[in-house]
Amino acid sequence: MNEISIITPDDWHLHFRDGDMLQETVLATARCFQRAIVMPNLVPPVTNAQMAKDYKQRIVEATPKESQFEPLMTIYLTNQTTQQDIKDAKAAGVVAAKLYPAGATTNSDAAVSQLDALNPVLETMTEVDMPLLIHGEVTDHVIDIFDREKIFIEEKLTRIVNQFPQLRIVLEHITTKEAVDFIQSGSSKLAATITPQHLLLNRNDLLVGGIRPHNFCLPVLKRNIHQQALREAVASGSKKFFLGTDSAPHEKHRKENACGCAGCYSAWSAIELYTQVFEELNVLDNLEAFASLNGPNFYQLPVNQTHITLVKESWTIPEEITLPNGNPIVPFFAGQTINWKLKV
Ligand code: DOR
Ligand code: ZN
Repeated sequence: MNEISIITPDDWHLHFRDGDMLQETVLATARCFQRAIVMPNLVPPVTNAQMAKDYKQRIVEATPKESQFEPLMTIYLTNQTTQQDIKDAKAAGVVAAKLYPAGATTNSDAAVSQLDALNPVLETMTEVDMPLLIHGEVTDHVIDIFDREKIFIEEKLTRIVNQFPQLRIVLEHITTKEAVDFIQSGSSKLAATITPQHLLLNRNDLLVGGIRPHNFCLPVLKRNIHQQALREAVASGSKKFFLGTDSAPHEKHRKENACGCAGCYSAWSAIELYTQVFEELNVLDNLEAFASLNGPNFYQLPVNQTHITLVKESWTIPEEITLPNGNPIVPFFAGQTINWKLKV
């Protein structure tokens, strides 16, 4: 196949950041995605309806005039989040709330340190039917970083799911076979997003031949049996898995650093890379459901009306992009040649 048309996809998990960075990030995503779930881990985090509305306005202002792109807003849960915050957010059109265990990742220090104390908030989320989006890693410093997702599922997620069986939950950017199995065996209220980097890479791509900071993200890349499990999950055509790039820009000097930031800035190549993976797996027919149907179905939102086309054509991802502030950023898969291109 040399060309494939699919319903315009949505990105169910990404980071736009704020300020003049939005000129870059919104443009990159709006080129092919109609909607995106925008993560709230700004500094300070987006913790309530008003902050989400204001942030949405800044994103809309950065959206190209001719674009149909719509940001879907989230709030960041903390141990100070109230039941009223959830009701207000729902009334303001916020689509979901994000649970970061405190310290799990970028700008998560202000997040949830006592998970049990969140029960009243989860009760209200169940009542108003607001999905809970989870960064699923424990943060206890004695727990090995490669085990943090698996242990979160065993010790935390299992309890949340059992206690709130009617709550819709998305386990974000899953990285392990254990996560795949947990989602597959769960109810229809439970789903997961999968990133391009976790489908394309394993921890050898992070550590063999030198540390590759641009492949560093959280949850960290795992061993290849886990990468295989994720590839099998998308190949299976299960409705419980959908596209979420976790595109997460950090300036070059913050990645190439003695204490480098986690995140892959994939927005300029994500849909092409997913297409490449689905072709490698011989399941191009499943791409549309993964990218454009399973997400809206889970979020109970309409499916997009337009289409995009990808053509089989090689191109090379740039080594660097200059941000509006003049600083360089290294996009995901920089300098690598890929086989599919968005037709514009
Ligand atoms: O790699 C990551 N980067 N994982 C996250 O969970 C957060 C993100 C970011 O905000 O940079
Ligand atoms: Zn993320």
